[in-house]
Amino acid sequence: MIDCERYVKKVLLDEETIQRRVAELGAQISADYVDVDQLLLVCILKGGILFLSDLMRHIHVPHELDFIAVSSYGVGVRSSSHDVRIEKDLSIDISNKHLLIVEDIIDTGYTLDFVISMLRARSIQSLRLVTLLNKQARRVADIPLDYVGFHIDDHFVFGYGLDLDERCRQLPYVAVADLAALDRS
Ligand code: PRP
Repeated sequence: MIDCERYVKKVLLDEETIQRRVAELGAQISADYVDVDQLLLVCILKGGILFLSDLMRHIHVPHELDFIAVSSYGVGVRSSSHDVRIEKDLSIDISNKHLLIVEDIIDTGYTLDFVISMLRARSIQSLRLVTLLNKQARRVADIPLDYVGFHIDDHFVFGYGLDLDERCRQLPYVAVADLAALDRS
């Protein structure tokens, strides 16, 4: 933890605040899907894993899990690009299922725009999205915001699944990165 804490400029969302909101989202999703059979949570790797594992403990309707991995190319590690590609597709048959995409953050929206278009082209019943964080300031693609944990300003954030150059995902809080400290390391 010490290593990661060096790069914390400030804690934006502490553990208690995140857990309270995740429980609220789970309760809302449980209510909305109470009459739905065949709910499938689709987690986008890797950033969504902590959010998924906490959120699913608050979803009290039957559901399955699957995972998708995408990469974006062409821009630096601190921002994504329009060139999004599938690294790992879903493993199970999603026909006639109600999909709920679980994502950690929406920034430009390029990633979700690609994933949503790809999934909508398949024979599914419905598709919604839950994101822990929404960073609207840098949005390019139009993304439907069905369930949002927190709307945040244009900070470079990490922790609670979000990485700092592939590390520090394990932090239980979301922090604003000290980019000067990161550049010095
Ligand atoms: C992050 C995040 C989203 C995406 C959002 O993933 O998990 O999937 O960026 O950015 P966008 O809205 O600008 O497309 P990243 O590519 O960093 O991969 P990771 O989840 O493996 O950390």
